[in-house]
Amino acid sequence: MRHFLTLKDYTKEEILEIIELGLRIKAEVKAKRFTPYLEKQTLAMIFEKSSTRTRVSFETGIYQLGGMGLFLSSRDIQLGRGEPMKDTARVISRMCDMVMIRTYSQSKLEEFASFSNVPVINGLTDEYHPVQLMADYMTMMEHGKDRNPVVAYIGDGNNMAHSWLMLAAKLGFELRIATPKGYECNPEIVVDAMEFAQRSGAALLFTNDPEDAVAGADVVTTDTWVSMGDEEEKEKRLRDFAGYTVDEKMMKLAHADAIFLHCLPAYRGLEVTEDVLEGPQSVVFDEAENRLHAQKGVMVWLDGKRDEV
Ligand code: CP
Ligand code: NVA
Repeated sequence: MRHFLTLKDYTKEEILEIIELGLRIKAEVKAKRFTPYLEKQTLAMIFEKSSTRTRVSFETGIYQLGGMGLFLSSRDIQLGRGEPMKDTARVISRMCDMVMIRTYSQSKLEEFASFSNVPVINGLTDEYHPVQLMADYMTMMEHGKDRNPVVAYIGDGNNMAHSWLMLAAKLGFELRIATPKGYECNPEIVVDAMEFAQRSGAALLFTNDPEDAVAGADVVTTDTWVSMGDEEEKEKRLRDFAGYTVDEKMMKLAHADAIFLHCLPAYRGLEVTEDVLEGPQSVVFDEAENRLHAQKGVMVWLDGKRDEV
C-alpha cells in the first residue's frame, strides 16, 4: 500500500504514470464514458482548512469513478474537539477505502498515515501541496511545456514553492524560485530537493530578484502571499512582498509564448495583476479543471487499478 503525502516519495516514472493515467481517464470522460474504476469505494475527505478546488475535485472525482466522498470538516468531526489523529485514522480507515486530508503540519498528516490501513492523500499541508502539482504538470503537458521547461516561481517560499521544488527535482527541469528576503524555502526541503536534483539533472536556482528568475522562462507561476495560517502576518507580508507582483511588465521578460499558472485562489493586485490573470497567457482555469482529472489518476493508481484504464 502506498500513500500520496509528498512527491519526495515518488519516482519520475511514477509521477508521469499517474498523470498519464489521469489524462486517459480525462479523455474517457470527455467522450462521456464514466468507467466505475472505484465502484462502491468511499473517500473520506478531512478538512482542517478552507477549500474550493480540492473539495469539489475530490468529491466529484470519486463520484465519477463510481464511489462517494465524505466531506469531514474538522469543525464537525471529533478531531476538532481533541480526538487524537491516531484514533481518527484507525476509525476512519476501517470504514473507508481512501482518505484525503488537508491539515497544518506535514507531521500530522504523516501521523495519520502511519495509523491508517488505507491510502492517505495529502490535500495540502503547510509544507506541501502535491496533488496541485500533478494538475500543474498535466496542464504544462497539454500546453506543450513539458520538454526541458524553465519554470519561474515568484513569491512566498511556501507549500507551493516546496512542491514545485520536488517536482522539478524529480522530473529534472529548471526551476527558478524568487522570494523576498526572509521568505525563502525551508532549508531542509531545499537540501532534500538538491539531492534528487543531482540525480535527475534538474537545475534549482534561488534568488531575491524576480526579474532575474522570470527572464526567458516558459512557465511563470506564483501563489498567495498570505497562506492559510499566515493571516496574522498579513500586513507585514503585503509590505515585504512589494515588487513581487506578476504583472505584464514581468511577463514580457519571460518567453513570448510562456504560460502563467496559479493554483488559485488568486488575489488580484497582490501576487498577480488582473491583466495577467485574465490575459492570453493565463491557463489558470485549465489548471483548476485538471485538479479533477489528475486526482482521479492518483486515486485509481493508489487503488492498484492502473492497468485497467
Ligand atoms: N488550489 C487549491 O488547493 O484550492 P482550494 O484551496 O480551493 O482547494
Ligand atoms: N499556499 C496557499 C495555497 C492555497 C491553495 C495556502 O496554503 O493557503
